[in-house]
Amino acid sequence: MKGIIKKIALLLLLTLVILQFVRPDKNESGYESVAYFENETNPSDEIKTILKSKCYDCHSDQTEYPWYAEVAPFSYWISDHVEEGREHFNVSNWKEYSTKKKDHKLEELIEEVEEGEMPLASYTWLHGNITESEKQTLIAWTKQLRLQYSEK
Ligand code: HEC
Repeated sequence: MKGIIKKIALLLLLTLVILQFVRPDKNESGYESVAYFENETNPSDEIKTILKSKCYDCHSDQTEYPWYAEVAPFSYWISDHVEEGREHFNVSNWKEYSTKKKDHKLEELIEEVEEGEMPLASYTWLHGNITESEKQTLIAWTKQLRLQYSEK
C-alpha cells in the first residue's frame, strides 16, 4: 500500500514538473494599446491608476504578470482569466466597439463594480481589492462617461 502511494506521489510530481515546460501565451502588447481608450474617455490620473492597477490585467492587451504566473498550474489558471476577461471587455479593442457596445460595456462596468463582482475575487487575494472610495470614484466617472455615448 505504502509503495503505491509513493508511486502516485512521484507520478504527480513528475506531471507537475513536465507541466512547467508548457507555457500559455502571454498577453503583453504594451500600454500603448490602451491609448485609444484613454484618449477618447479622458480619465483623470486617479482613474487611470485604478484601471491600471485593478482592471487592465484582464481587460486590456497589457497584463502585468506576477511571478507565480510562471508556475503551472497557476499559469493556466491566470491565462484563462485573462482570456475570458478580454473576451467580454477589452479596452484595447475600444476603437472597434460600436457606440452602443461602448455604452453597454460601461453599464456592465458600473453593475459589476457596484456588486463587488470586479475585480475577480481570486485576483483580489493577492492584488488587494478596490477600496470603497476607489469604487465610488470609478462609478461616478463611468456614469458621467456614459452620457457621451448614450446621447448620440
Ligand atoms: C483576474 C482577472 C480580472 C480582473 C482583474 C478584472 N476582471 Fe472584469 N472580468 C473578468 C472575467 C473573467 C469576466 C467574465 C466573466 C464574468 O463576468 O464574471 C469579466 C467581466 C467583466 C465585465 C462584464 C463584461 C460583460 O460584457 O458582461 C466588466 C464590465 C468588467 N469585467 C469590468 C472590470 C473592471 C472595471 C475591473 C477592475 C475594477 C475588472 N473587471 C477586473 C476578469 C477580470
